[in-house]
Amino acid sequence: MIKLAVLISGSGSNLQAIIDAIEAGQLDAKIALVLSNKANAYGLERAQQHGIPAQCIAHRNFSDRASFDQAMQQVLEPLELDYLVLAGFMRILTPEFIRHFEHRILNIHPSLLPRYPGLHTHRRALENGDSEHGVSIHLVTEVLDDGPLLMQGSYPVQADDTEDSLAQRGHKLEHLMYPRVLQLLATGDLNFKQGQPYFHDAPLQRPLTPED
Ligand code: GRF
Repeated sequence: MIKLAVLISGSGSNLQAIIDAIEAGQLDAKIALVLSNKANAYGLERAQQHGIPAQCIAHRNFSDRASFDQAMQQVLEPLELDYLVLAGFMRILTPEFIRHFEHRILNIHPSLLPRYPGLHTHRRALENGDSEHGVSIHLVTEVLDDGPLLMQGSYPVQADDTEDSLAQRGHKLEHLMYPRVLQLLATGDLNFKQGQPYFHDAPLQRPLTPED
């Protein structure tokens, strides 16, 4: 069983997928805390509906990133977490925070990294006429949307696709992928040695796919 905190800023549909997988017995994990930087994040309600501790630390109440991150660290540290799961958490973390939880922070990003780090990934894929788009789950390092890739899922871009239709298709994939990666971590099939991902005791040569 792995112990998680899930960090959110909004809807929390990925959080819901993780909760559902735990409740269905498909994911051997416990969510010790759902933490949001926004008080009105719907994900906080989702947590409460499932009896999961939920808390808001509003970044607006802090004068800078460092003090906000320190406040989060103070709440998270005593929980003795295996992993911090970023699921639509829309704040950039300080290098100090990332180093503190080194090799324990995961992120999900709506593009096939290294393509399109940052925002508006679906728009950029459409503008560039990409024939495929996708989702990446990676270990967080000090560089935004960088860090070793753990799993990528892709889907074709069709002629009539819009930002919304791509986002919808991406979300479906995300909801499969995050519980899957977490379960691989829970079983130890996937683990890290000095920040390098290993799958079945061999260095991961390419990102896993949802089918692996
Ligand atoms: C997802 O698209 C994820 O890739 C991105 O933020 C979104 C979060 O969605 N990082 P939700 O809050 O889980 O519904």
